[in-house]
Amino acid sequence: MTLLVRNILNLRSSPSNVVCRKNIYTTRHLSSEMLLVHRDSKENNSKIPFQFTEANMKRIQAIVQNYPEGSQMSAISMAMDIVQRQIGWIPISAMHKVAELLSMPRMRVYEWATFYTMCKREYRGKFNVKVCKSLPCMLRGSDFIIRAVEDATGCCAGGLSGDKMFGVDLVECQGACANAPVIAIDDDYYEDLTVCDVYNIIEKLRCGDIPPSGPQGGRYAAEPCCGLTSLLTCPPPPGYCLQEALRQEKKGDGCNK
Ligand code: FES
Repeated sequence: MTLLVRNILNLRSSPSNVVCRKNIYTTRHLSSEMLLVHRDSKENNSKIPFQFTEANMKRIQAIVQNYPEGSQMSAISMAMDIVQRQIGWIPISAMHKVAELLSMPRMRVYEWATFYTMCKREYRGKFNVKVCKSLPCMLRGSDFIIRAVEDATGCCAGGLSGDKMFGVDLVECQGACANAPVIAIDDDYYEDLTVCDVYNIIEKLRCGDIPPSGPQGGRYAAEPCCGLTSLLTCPPPPGYCLQEALRQEKKGDGCNK
């Protein structure tokens, strides 16, 4: 036992085993009560009327018809998405409208709206920039990307730019880790980002252009950066290596004459 303790002490004090301190960048934690609580405000209260456009109302009616009588509330995700696409966010009066249309208690709609983080319960700008801060993106430099986004938009994470053009949010994994670091702007993903790309993208949006989405480094989708290492030949045709007896007869073969 004494020998073991001595060995451990020796190991710790040995210069060859000193672990160098690494610079670890930690992403700031965004604390907010917004996810759970609604407080009436001048811009968001139940007295402000909300109406679907005629086209959107037709869309919702068509979606509701996909569900059996009594299960209309299953269309809630689509209805909320339609609200968000119509005005850019989901105020409390729109939630009430959805509850009325789908014959469901308002509380069920509130539950949906506070559970899904893609539901914007306050206006998040003309362009909502969501910067991924989960592990693969963090290891590929998302901290620098966050700083660049904040600098280019003039808006801190969680806030709205002065001209209300950009809202910046820090989000968890966007499901595109193979192309980290990633930002999502509304429905578009910008991948394999560098700080320089971020400034270009924000500048183009500010000028009214929509920059091409996808990997910014020139590679196709999530292919290896140095070119393909597998799947180098064309795939064999359907029926490859199939037993002769199992092959389908060609159309017209075997019909009674
Ligand atoms: S960690 Fe960023 S997309 Fe998965």
